[in-house]
Parts: sequence; C-alpha cells; structure tokens
Amino acid sequence: MLPYTLVIQHAAQVLTLAGGPTDRPLAGPHLNNWHIIENGYVACQGDKIAAVGPMAELDHTLITAGTRLLDATGRVVMPGLVECHTHLVFGGNRAHEFERKLRGESYLDILASGGGILSTVRATRAASEEELMENALHHLECFRRYGITTLEAKSGYGLDRDTELRLVRVARAAGRQQPVRVVPTFLGAHVVPPEFKEAGPRAYVDFILREVLSDLKGEAAFVDIFCEEGAFPLNVARYFLGQAHKMGFGLKIHAEQLHDMGGCEMAAELGATSVDHCDYLTPAAAARIAQQTDGRTVAVLLPLVPLFLRQEKYAPGREFIENGLPVALSTDFNPGSCPSKNLWLALSVACLKMGFTPKEAVAAATLNAAWAIGHAADCGSLAPGKRADVLVLDVGSVAEIPYWLGENPVRDVVIGGESV
Ligand code: NIG
Ligand code: FE
Repeated sequence: MLPYTLVIQHAAQVLTLAGGPTDRPLAGPHLNNWHIIENGYVACQGDKIAAVGPMAELDHTLITAGTRLLDATGRVVMPGLVECHTHLVFGGNRAHEFERKLRGESYLDILASGGGILSTVRATRAASEEELMENALHHLECFRRYGITTLEAKSGYGLDRDTELRLVRVARAAGRQQPVRVVPTFLGAHVVPPEFKEAGPRAYVDFILREVLSDLKGEAAFVDIFCEEGAFPLNVARYFLGQAHKMGFGLKIHAEQLHDMGGCEMAAELGATSVDHCDYLTPAAAARIAQQTDGRTVAVLLPLVPLFLRQEKYAPGREFIENGLPVALSTDFNPGSCPSKNLWLALSVACLKMGFTPKEAVAAATLNAAWAIGHAADCGSLAPGKRADVLVLDVGSVAEIPYWLGENPVRDVVIGGESV
C-alpha cells in the first residue's frame, strides 16, 4: 500500500453517506439511515479517498513524513457539497425587478412584460466572453467557499446559436481555471426568444435540435427544458426531450414550478436523470415516478426559489420521501428566482418548509445531488476510490448543520486531495 498523502483525523463525526444501496440514489428510509462515524478519520492517497473509519482503526504504518495531517477535533467531516442545478453563466443582474416583485408583481407577469429571463438574455447577449468568464469565476469562488466541490451549470440566457454555445464554452473553461468541477447542461430551451415569437415554441426547439445540439456532443452531457406557462408546453417539451434522448443526451426538466402541467412524469417516462423544482408535483405523481423509474429519477428540490419568489407553495418533500422518490437539494442559483449561492441555507429551508431531517438534507445535497448529475461514481460520499472532496465544518454534529440559519459552517475545503 502507498502511504497516505492526507489524513483528516479526530473528527467528532464523519458523515460518510455510506450504508445504503450503491447502484441508485438514496430513497425512503435510506436517505436518513446512512452511517456516521464518531471520532473518525478520512485518509487520502493523491486525489482519491483511500480509507474512512474510526480513529482506533487508522493504519499508522501508512502515515509517513510526507503525510499531511489535518486536525478535526470537535468538528464534522463530510463530503464536498454537490450543487446539482445552477444557472452559473449570465450577464447583468435583476435587482430592479426585485423591487417590482416587492411591490407585488409575479414572476410570470414580469416575464410576460419582456422582463425576467428575457431581460437577462439581453444582458447576456451584450456581454463579452471575458465578462461572462469573470462573473462565472467570481461565483465559483463563492461557491467554493461554501464547500461546493462539484457544480452543474446550465446555459439558457443566450437563446441563439452563438450565445448558447458561448455559455457552454465559458462554463467548461471556468471549470478548468479553478478547482471546483463544473458539469455543463444545455438549457437552450429556457424560453422562446423574441426572434421566434411569431414562429412559436415548436419552431424554436426544431431550430435547436437542427442547428445547435449536434455541436454540443461531448460538450454537455445533459439537455434541459423549462416546461411552464409562458415557456414551453408539455407536448413541445416531450418532443424536444425525446429527440435529444435519441441524440444521446441525458435529460433534465424544469417542471411543476408554478403549475402542475405533468412535465415531471413525462420526463421521467423518457428516462430523465432529474426532474427539477416540483413545487406543484403531487405526492401521488411522485409515487408513480418512483415506481415507474425504479427509483432512478431524482427530484431536485429548490427551496430558496419559492422563498425568493414570495410563493407560499413549497414542494412536499416529506411526502416525496415517504413515497420513495429520491430527492436532491440545490440553490438553483440564477439572477431571477434565486440570487443566492448559499446551499446551506437551502438545506435549512428544506428542513423548515419541506419537512426534511438534517441527515436527509445532507444526503440530498451530496450523494443524491451527485446522482442527479450522473456523477455518483466519483463524488457525493466518503467512499474509498472516490475523488477526495472533503469538508471540515465548524460544527460538532449533523444536527447543527441546518440549525445555524444562513451561516457558512465551512472551515476547510479539500478538492481532489488538495486544500483549496
Ligand atoms: O430555475 N424557471 C426557470 N428558470 C430559472 C429562473 C431563471 C430566471 O428567472 O432567470 C429557474 O428558476
Ligand atoms: Fe433552474
């Protein structure tokens, strides 16, 4: 055996996320029943996790002069957070619309008046690639300080061929320029751009399928679509996802955010990796999805979005869990419906408004989030062989994580075995 390069030791609790099935996301009781090791360690060899266990079982023969030791006495050690739904790359911001919203205008009314997503599209088209990159790197640095070690980044504020390809390119390049791994998703079908207002949603997705998707093979693993009033109707979303699936893309959908349109069930039938938002998804439909997909499609819940949109309807997370649907949590970071990168706050709101336990919330933002972006083989839990993405927190137990509302509990961030 090679010597350890890094040992994080004497942790009050090591949140392993291990102990459930390894061939699918955690669902039902598994979401709460994973293993915590009291007084434990995590050992790394290079960029991989080598061993995890109680201090009494640490193999001291593998600790040499070259081993870096990180003391975690009194602290929680856990896998890096996986942020599985963001709109990382965009120009401008929407602070002006925040004021409109505070005066009572709704999200869809602002969109229908040419604002909302369309106002960010104008700002994004006007921004240079350098500006977009600078903004993306700034946001990624903040995410890293929150302990996010892998992050999904959607396009969707270009809505023309060149700008959409630029957004995917910037996301990929930003991933190479700093330590947080970036997983790009193509959301060219975010809303219908002004150029296709007359021709309509079906003509626009035909344009994407014909002119854009072929250039994205190998650049983005997933495509996504916003199925909602004012965006894409169910039949167009079904057609688009079906065609993209035939082209080899993994599928995601923004659905049941503001209305129940049947988008989640439709996408799950097509084999979607995740269905996202789900505030209006019923517990009965959640049970059907869980059964039909054999627990493989993950519902990504975004509790900061209803909070920020002043909508009192939150996804019934507790019922989804009881009905066997695997759930993940994310911020949905974007300039319109969630300008926050604080995934810890999302965990707290999931406990307060969606009925999660602290352990369920942690699992939903680590291992299940990794499943939601097709990366469970290499991140999301402290399992030997996975990438050494590890956090040391300034709290002493898992229950404290969602308790300190709005705080950032992160003390140390290790990505690929390196402190960053
Ligand atoms: O996930 N709902 C659609 N898309 C984003 C919001 C985008 C925006 O408002 O700029 C979301 O909430
Ligand atoms: Fe989103």
